[in-house]
Amino acid sequence: MIGCGYVGLVTGACLAEIGHEVVCTDNDEAKIRTLQAGQLPIYEPHLDQVVERARAQKRLSFTSDVHEAIRSGDAIFICVGTPPLENGDADLSAIDRVAKWIATESRSPKLVVEKSTVPVQTGQQLKRALAVYGRNGGATFQVASNPEFLREGTAVGDFLHPDRIVIGVENKTAEEKLREIYRPILEKRFHCPVHTKGCPSSDPPPFVVTTINSAELIKHASNSFLALKISYANALADLCEKLDANVEEVTRAMGLDPRIGPQFLRAGLGFGGFCFPKDIQAFIRLAERAGVDFALLKEAEGINKRRIAQFLEKARRVLWVLKEKKVGILGLAFKPNTDDIRFAPAIDMIRQLLAEGAHVSAYDPEAVEKTRAVYPKIHYGADAYEVAKDSDAVFVVTEWPEFRALDWKRIHGLMARPLVFDGRNLLDAAEMKRLGFEYHSVGRPD
Ligand code: UGA
Repeated sequence: MIGCGYVGLVTGACLAEIGHEVVCTDNDEAKIRTLQAGQLPIYEPHLDQVVERARAQKRLSFTSDVHEAIRSGDAIFICVGTPPLENGDADLSAIDRVAKWIATESRSPKLVVEKSTVPVQTGQQLKRALAVYGRNGGATFQVASNPEFLREGTAVGDFLHPDRIVIGVENKTAEEKLREIYRPILEKRFHCPVHTKGCPSSDPPPFVVTTINSAELIKHASNSFLALKISYANALADLCEKLDANVEEVTRAMGLDPRIGPQFLRAGLGFGGFCFPKDIQAFIRLAERAGVDFALLKEAEGINKRRIAQFLEKARRVLWVLKEKKVGILGLAFKPNTDDIRFAPAIDMIRQLLAEGAHVSAYDPEAVEKTRAVYPKIHYGADAYEVAKDSDAVFVVTEWPEFRALDWKRIHGLMARPLVFDGRNLLDAAEMKRLGFEYHSVGRPD
């Protein structure tokens, strides 16, 4: 496993959990030291149990020696980051670097599997690089694409209970190797840390075999489609606000149509995280270069980019002046159950609030430390109550379930002005009104 970011770590740990011997490496030595010391560099439910068990059973190890990791594996999963470049393209330099290492270091046949999200035809480049740089090493290479669909916050469960396993291969040998690797999941032979009382019964996941190009495209197409669905719900929410309808009623009824489905129609502050924003951008660029005008995706991206400004405009209308107002932010992570703040709406929102001279106080159950590195000077509350104290408004930015369970009556008493802007439609509007709040949410009548 090369790359111990989110996907690499979860994939490595879960492959060890289902019985394989896994060596993980990363060029971030501090991260490897943390992992070797038995700690995790990220917060992800159940991952600690999986890592601990696999390490205790000597199936999972971490090394900063990439050469050792390459030599030890028959199958090498590339899980390095593909961050966005200035122009929106995916930066593939880490994949290129790793390809050279694998090519020059390998002494035995290797199956090289792309796990990182990459633009279509990366597999072809990878194959070429392995052949060119490995020409003197004597090893043979097969390349496969195996896109990952796990979500942060539910990553372990998603890995062990996938909706589908997609592999893009060039021949039967690579297909059979990957089928063998995933056999415990296909046959449901693993210890599941998520469902301690037994996993819900379901059919084995479909094992989808495609060409490498199609597999690469499936990942970008899936993420972009989900992003599109969210932007659709958000545009609908804007319409509902203008026409006095309720977006939740509309999307609930829409979602009952199995052709539409209920998921990813939650309106709010839009999508963040290290996947959707960069993947939709990269997909647009890919289409442009292929000569296809995917304007549909550009609009979905545009709708998403406008979410924060629109939300703040609403706040400005009510608060009148933002300068010197004390604003409490509840939620910093881009979604609940993670400490990941990459492309998180809260980060952008705080930047804009500070630019307007507001005083920001923030709280998140897991993401405070990572946010402190970005905004060292804002105030961080020990809990939601401290953030609400004396504030002129509270913004709900991430839908952590525990925010719903707060003692909102107490918060009402603590605030200078009992005003709540719920950017995730987390709270019950009628209940908030009953408690005496001025309450504004997204696409629901105020
Ligand atoms: C996403 C995909 O869901 C995974 O299938 C994929 O494997 C992953 O990207 C990846 O490419 O690695 P993730 O970014 O962890 O997973 O999180 P999601 O649950 O998809 O949420 C993304 C963003 O959309 C969050 O900011 C969330 O708040 C927002 N969202 C989600 C909405 O605004 N509305 C919704 O209805 C659903």
